[in-house]
Amino acid sequence: MTTPTQRPPELPGQTVVVIGGSSGIGLETARRARTEGADVILTGRNPERLEQAAKEVDARRTAAFDATDPAALEGFFQSLPDPIDHVMVTAGGQYYALLADMDFAQARHAIDEHLMMALQATRYAAGKMRPGGTLLFMTGTGARRPGISLSIAAIAAAAMPALVANLAVEVAPARVNLLAAGFVDTPLSASLLGDDLDKRRDQLRATLPIRRVVGPADVAALAVHIMTNTALTGATYDVDGGEQLVPGA
Ligand SMILES: NC(=O)c1ccc[n+]([C@@H]2O[C@H](COP(=O)([O-])OP(=O)(O)OC[C@H]3O[C@@H](n4cnc5c(N)ncnc54)[C@H](OP(=O)(O)O)[C@@H]3O)[C@@H](O)[C@H]2O)c1
Repeated sequence: MTTPTQRPPELPGQTVVVIGGSSGIGLETARRARTEGADVILTGRNPERLEQAAKEVDARRTAAFDATDPAALEGFFQSLPDPIDHVMVTAGGQYYALLADMDFAQARHAIDEHLMMALQATRYAAGKMRPGGTLLFMTGTGARRPGISLSIAAIAAAAMPALVANLAVEVAPARVNLLAAGFVDTPLSASLLGDDLDKRRDQLRATLPIRRVVGPADVAALAVHIMTNTALTGATYDVDGGEQLVPGA
């Protein structure tokens, strides 16, 4: 019988910046990047939550700021003393609203959060990145199918793949990629669902082709793979356990 050989870490000596690294998918990606030998730099808005996360993963550096503020985002990247390898952006939430109830200022902010932040982060970060590194953004697969209250989420879900493909051509040799998740069991999902969280988990276990709930570790594993596989750029990777294939899942 053969036993698997121990493999060397995949990100030795590299630096991963996580914009939105104090919780959920971002924090899990930071954990995984650390186990693969990378240094991590974490950002988020809430300084206490950020410090706690930084302590847990022994982050090299932290910065507390709102990533939707372009001046703050630019200042953050300018302040980094050394080159970086990868940037993952998990900051930004979702805005679900019926058209009749929609707060247009909030809707505009929600569109900005994903689209403008991707443009701005790419402009400010690309010059700081060593060749071979990737920028990684997040979107969802859920809003690909039209639905009530989904119009703002649908705009981001439809536009992000095109944006990422164009950015990948423009900022090469830096790479740019996109992760599209379905339901991921994170603090964000818990806060959106409240008392319905367990019901949603049960429904997903019963209906998803993978028969289990997707967790942050599933997304983090894909994120780290995209960091290490330098053939990948300009593309969108779905990680939703088949959710988009099952109507009503
Ligand atoms: N969870 C899902 O089911 C799911 C599905 C599809 C797509 N996504 C997308 O994946 C990304 C990560 O989701 P998650 O579930 O991991 O969320 P999460 O647990 O709430 O984590 C989000 C992280 O981003 C930070 N953040 C949020 N807004 C920010 C801002 N404006 N500036 C700086 N930092 C900010 C948060 O810290 P602070 O709050 O302290 O700033 C936190 O560290 C989001 O863009 C979400 O829309 C999630």
